Amino acid sequence: MVTDNISEVSDATASSTTQTHSIVFLDSGIGGLPYLAYAKERMPEIKFHYLADNAGFPYGNKPPSQVKDILHDRVRRLRARFLPDALVIACNTASQIGLHSLRAAHPGFTIVGTVPAVKPAALQTKTGVIGVLATERTVDDPYLDDLIARYASDVEVVKLPAQELVDFVENRLFVANLEERIEAVVPYVRIFLERSADEIVLACTHFLHLETEIGIAIQRLNGENVDIVDSRLGVVNRVHELMQSLGFLSTKDCPKPNAETGEFLLTGDPPFDPRYSLWAQRFGQNPPQRL
Ligand code: DGL
Repeated sequence: MVTDNISEVSDATASSTTQTHSIVFLDSGIGGLPYLAYAKERMPEIKFHYLADNAGFPYGNKPPSQVKDILHDRVRRLRARFLPDALVIACNTASQIGLHSLRAAHPGFTIVGTVPAVKPAALQTKTGVIGVLATERTVDDPYLDDLIARYASDVEVVKLPAQELVDFVENRLFVANLEERIEAVVPYVRIFLERSADEIVLACTHFLHLETEIGIAIQRLNGENVDIVDSRLGVVNRVHELMQSLGFLSTKDCPKPNAETGEFLLTGDPPFDPRYSLWAQRFGQNPPQRL
């Protein structure tokens, strides 16, 4: 049942040792899937649903107020339909734009956001230069400047907007061959290497799908000792910590069975592009259905 009334879900976070707990992941598209994969590995007893908001895609070049409205709509509908215990915004852009207001609109409901991994990159750099590859919105957002001021004030940060690369990942990854995928990332990697960056922060979740290709591009351009950094570990660790504190995860004394397969949701009109069935299958979710 899809409803806008969230009052009926107010008890959804009640702890229980027997019931299956669920978490919904949200992104504008397929970007959050690598985060989902790692979360499933770490918390097999949790049921994970995934929303690829293809009707809202892309978030990164829309006015923030529009993205905020979209996010509030999606989160209301997801809560009403699945009564999840938590939500993970597996999207940097959406987290920057909507995390505060979503938390304010859903008091008591656990919402975890995604933050560009600037802090670990700044700690690791040897050259004193880090590269940040992100959406147009993330590059422009004061949030990123605050993050840099807090954790990377003593290093140089090269910020590159790569909105067309988001589009490439969402729409062309399955049809592009390896060479085309490498070509798509080379211009960005070249700029980072020319500026002596030795840490490349994937500050848009879509780019995790191009991690291998970025690695190959670094080698081809003779980059040495360059790390590719993302926030997967930090986000999933945080979710794990919260689920554990709520008593939703197994303990040695009380092992829980693996959860059933979760849904893969889309917001556009069916029939859905067949590539989404492949993504759902590849990441172990049920075939796509409409939110
Ligand atoms: N995957 C998203 C991010 O991490 C945004 C992509 C988009 O919709 O522009 O920022």
